[in-house]
Amino acid sequence: MRRLCLVSVMLAFFITGVVSAAAQEIIKLPTPKTEGGMPLMQALKERKSSREFAPEKLPLPVLSNLLWAAWGVNRPDGHRTAPSARNSQEIDVYVAMSDGLYLYQPKQHQLLKALAEDIRAVTGTNDYVKGAALNLVYVADLTRGNLKEPAAIEFYTGADTAFLAQNVYLFCASEGLSVVVRGSIDRAALAGKMKLRPDQKITLAQSVGYPKK
Ligand SMILES: Cc1cc2nc3c(=O)[nH]c(=O)nc-3n(C[C@H](O)[C@H](O)[C@H](O)COP(=O)(O)O)c2cc1C
Repeated sequence: MRRLCLVSVMLAFFITGVVSAAAQEIIKLPTPKTEGGMPLMQALKERKSSREFAPEKLPLPVLSNLLWAAWGVNRPDGHRTAPSARNSQEIDVYVAMSDGLYLYQPKQHQLLKALAEDIRAVTGTNDYVKGAALNLVYVADLTRGNLKEPAAIEFYTGADTAFLAQNVYLFCASEGLSVVVRGSIDRAALAGKMKLRPDQKITLAQSVGYPKK
């Protein structure tokens, strides 16, 4: 009888674990390729904003490399590819794609599904955003770090986001991808769609995809 109980507890734990993992819908990203690419000076020479996108999706290894370049963990102590004021690490990167909205989790290097809906069109007021393979949405989580004064919040969350966005620009230059960073966003509409909390603030967005041929 006791053995039966133990088995049922283990079974329940296993099933619950599986159910919650399934409900969470995680995409484990392949290990990023952290070597190679275009020489830095050449990438700087090629960096530019482009607003024309082909509809093809980015293959998972390219998405993995892009997100690692943007905001991945690059040292054993958990520091990232971009700096952040007081090492607040307050910026979250959301990825809006045709099959839904995902949150990039740098420590696990994985994507957590946040919405099963294509919200690309809501990520900006420019017409081209709905046709980009993906739109990154940068969101500052104001509960993280120690950013209290309004001026510090405005300045540092903007500055911190800009470092990620430039990493993405350089990665895209190296990979031959089209990219543009964007401030023109209906933030209230997008925050509502993304179901953000009041202490989460959208800073910028960035469209990425293959160039239109
Ligand atoms: C903070 C910021 C906000 C921007 N917002 C938009 C935008 O909403 N829509 C857009 O098409 N481009 C936007 N851009 C891209 C600029 O228009 C672009 O960087 C500028 O024209 C210079 O072109 P380049 O990036 O090719 O050098 C933004 C750039 C920055 C830095």
